[in-house]
Amino acid sequence: ENWSRTDRYRPYKEWSEEHLHSLEKKINSSHWRLGYHIQPVTGLLNDPNGFSYFDGKWQLFYQAYPMGSVHGLKSWYHLSSVNLIDWKNDGLKLIPDNSFDSHGVYSGSALPIDNQLFLAYTGNVRDSNWGRHSFQLGAWMDKNGNITKIPTPLISSPPPGYTQEIRDPQLIAYDDGYLLIVGAQTEQKQGRILTYYSKDLQNWQFLGTLGFTEEEMGFMIECPNLLFVNGKALLVFCPQGLSHEIHSYSNIYPNTYVIGQTFDFEKNELSDLTHIKNIDEGFDIYATHCFSDENGRTLAISWIGLPEISYPTDEEGWAHCLSIVKELTIEKEQLYQRPVKETAQLRKGKSYHFSGLETTIDAEINQYELQLEFDYSQKGTILLFADEQQKHGLTLSFDTIHGKMSMDRSHAGKSFAENFGTVREFSIEKKPLKLQIFVDRSVVEVFVNDGQQTATARVFPTDDQTGLYIKSDREFKGKLWHLRNMN
Ligand code: FRU
Repeated sequence: ENWSRTDRYRPYKEWSEEHLHSLEKKINSSHWRLGYHIQPVTGLLNDPNGFSYFDGKWQLFYQAYPMGSVHGLKSWYHLSSVNLIDWKNDGLKLIPDNSFDSHGVYSGSALPIDNQLFLAYTGNVRDSNWGRHSFQLGAWMDKNGNITKIPTPLISSPPPGYTQEIRDPQLIAYDDGYLLIVGAQTEQKQGRILTYYSKDLQNWQFLGTLGFTEEEMGFMIECPNLLFVNGKALLVFCPQGLSHEIHSYSNIYPNTYVIGQTFDFEKNELSDLTHIKNIDEGFDIYATHCFSDENGRTLAISWIGLPEISYPTDEEGWAHCLSIVKELTIEKEQLYQRPVKETAQLRKGKSYHFSGLETTIDAEINQYELQLEFDYSQKGTILLFADEQQKHGLTLSFDTIHGKMSMDRSHAGKSFAENFGTVREFSIEKKPLKLQIFVDRSVVEVFVNDGQQTATARVFPTDDQTGLYIKSDREFKGKLWHLRNMN
């Protein structure tokens, strides 16, 4: 769609009710709307923001542009949940309304402090020459969901040597104060993560560039998250323009992570780091947003969508979704991502069991959880979203002897983003294979070997593609549950 800048940044109140109604109508006739994934009511959804636990509920926000499936004037849309499965839509919460956020309430995080939820976010402002100005801002949300924006920025300008590409603050309770980390760009166009410290949330001291690599991390880093998981320091971030010689990836921009043995506050660095890795091996994960809840469980949720890529639902007036909620652990220096245990509450009735060398199932509706176990060394394929002829579908191929797996969406349905390839290949451990696969209408999330890897993809099948077909050179067993819609 061709949207002018004026249209994209038009204040919401200048849009007619009719516009939203006609969007809703169009969206209601979509065959790709999701059953249990968070999706925009209308328009575009991108990064998850402000994931937290507050007032006896999980709180979550996402970047929203409600007027169309383009990156327009962004706000934070609010959701809350008591079980991480069923999310209540609480509507637009933080909207652009002042000189520090006039052109978008950009990404950030949340932290419960003294009976309120503190929201840290970036205010995006464009001047008359369309030059960008970024402000790191704060707001309080009370238990009734009322927002009070803090009138002056927490951080009003980038430190010397950095550009206005500075955003996505993550606020972390640290010692008896607060650490704030933010994605940034140097004047030489190098991606960086910067850290700040404050005792009172008002006066922020610049600590410098977070040390976590000797290598260049592209021209910009977005959405950094620093977490303390199982005694280790985990850094999850999105480097843009990262050299393929430094790190191999196929998506337009990767969502990556490193694990450090420790975070040294004095030196402002992570020590003894693992090499940079992709957080997901599939096609569409970006802007993964994490926090540790009050029980010390680290939860993550990702945007399933990528910047600068058109998706087939754009024409239907909506775009993108969020992943299911994943629990992160670090076991033997390795990151594991598992669906949170609450996900089992989506199961409808009993599971259907099967075993053998080959299985064909008609799921009727592409909304299920599939668990597969390949006990021995073997090779095989799994065709999801299969049509009756098994000509179309998303193909997962594995070879546990050589430790390889691939996801091929070249024949999965309506194609898109082909410039970035239609196949993703990755290494898996050379051992018996366990897969847990969540299929939901136009998205699939694959968890490999208890979350050692994940592979996520949007898929846009035709209506007859509801089958699955599994074939291996040795016997395997599996279970399938139909999953309910989110309430
Ligand atoms: C990442 C991002 C963030 C920014 C937000 C704006 O997808 O570009 O850096 O805060 O989206 O919607």
